[in-house]
Amino acid sequence: MATHFILVAIAIMALASTLATASDPSQLQDFCVAVKDSKSAVFVNGKFCNDPKLATANDFFYSGLLTPQNTSNPVGSTVTPVNVMQIPGLNTLGISLARIDFAPYGLNPPHTHPRGTEILVVLEGTLYVGFVTSNPDNRFFTKVLYPGDVFVFPEGLIHFGLIRKD
Ligand SMILES: *[C@@H]1O[C@H](CO)[C@@H](O)[C@H](O)[C@H]1NC(C)=O
Repeated sequence: MATHFILVAIAIMALASTLATASDPSQLQDFCVAVKDSKSAVFVNGKFCNDPKLATANDFFYSGLLTPQNTSNPVGSTVTPVNVMQIPGLNTLGISLARIDFAPYGLNPPHTHPRGTEILVVLEGTLYVGFVTSNPDNRFFTKVLYPGDVFVFPEGLIHFGLIRKD
């Protein structure tokens, strides 16, 4: 069975001032490495921040994204997230990444990211993607993507990805 996969980046956009309330405000510090023990931590937003003096390169590191995942499930797709849970140094930065493996005819069901735009790149296989604009016109944008193709799902809009053929 061929394995198809893509990478997805989700970024909180820095919008024009008229739309600024829809996105995270600017950071107040270089970073805020998430810490599980809140006793000696500082709270900014998201998770508690570790003491910046204790930050190391590994707080900004993840390995293993090239590993194909098992897609034997009802939707035929598996998301491997790389967000603040995997990289504590991503806390408050407004960006994350994921890998999605699809089985033939697999689906990443329609969903939204209310505060994040998504940019997707197909690394292997063929992926049918689409999104729907908000009211009142509800326009449907769709495209078949091939390896090397990049597509954007604008912030907050319902979108999906589907393997139509092997
Ligand atoms: C994939 O997951 C299915 C369902 O859980 C399981 O039966 C199968 O053994 C798994 N395959 C591999 C290669 O791990």
